[in-house]
Amino acid sequence: MSKRLSVNDFLKFKVEKRKVSILTAYDRMTARIAEDGGADVILVGDSLGMTVLGYDDTLSVSMEDMVRHTKAVSNVTNRVMVIADLPFLSYQVSVAEALRNAGRLMVEGGCGAVKLEGGIEYCAQVKAITQAGIPVMGHLGFTPQSIHRFGGSFAQGKTEETAVKLMRDAFALEEAGAFGIVLECVPHELAEVITLKLKIPTIGIGSGAECDGQVQVIHDVLGLNDDFQAKHFKKYVEGQKILTDAVKMHVAEVKDLAFPTTAHSFTVSSAIIDVVKKEFRG
Ligand code: KIV
Repeated sequence: MSKRLSVNDFLKFKVEKRKVSILTAYDRMTARIAEDGGADVILVGDSLGMTVLGYDDTLSVSMEDMVRHTKAVSNVTNRVMVIADLPFLSYQVSVAEALRNAGRLMVEGGCGAVKLEGGIEYCAQVKAITQAGIPVMGHLGFTPQSIHRFGGSFAQGKTEETAVKLMRDAFALEEAGAFGIVLECVPHELAEVITLKLKIPTIGIGSGAECDGQVQVIHDVLGLNDDFQAKHFKKYVEGQKILTDAVKMHVAEVKDLAFPTTAHSFTVSSAIIDVVKKEFRG
């Protein structure tokens, strides 16, 4: 049995100044592509809502959704650490609910850690979950579950007040036991300071190269999200166009009788066919 990357390995990346690569995945195919492509960690993000389930935002993603997709990813991977997002309202209501839901993602979903959004206000949850033996990653800056509070998605920490709050939140999460923090859409100069001051790794998305690692949504990297464009990602392949063109070729071959050929079909002896023909004349 091959060994998965652990929280200790993850922390070593920072000490050894090696960058961490995290990609999201939600199912067998995206998980296999992420692991075979060499990612260190797979995040089963609640971006599941938009990338797979067709929702407008992350708010409707349920615990059932997260458990099902985390299990799919854990089942088909061997080497990566699997982190699962705690979805909206699965940890905000109480510490007890947060602990139970984090436990479900680990026991039923098979993940090695969970991630939750927010700073000082959720440190009691981070502490309790960590103390129960479930590693927790924090998430600061633009936090999509608070989209209605932010009034849209844009960079966070651009004023003195919000920059100081971000720094305080980062320290509080580290103190509460988080083993890493995602910084989403944080100005890179501020992300650099946070990265230098913390002992735990920072993982950036739209927060610059100075972070200890990067996380990206796999559909953005693979160009499988043609209706979404943002500053923080780079498309490495026109996946949606390539796959749509392949489907167009298939449909055309079906219509033109070019597919299937005999090579794609099964055969039976003509004697059997004769019997069947005689039996069912009418
Ligand atoms: O849900 C998600 O994909 C995330 C990343 C964008 C960090 O939380």
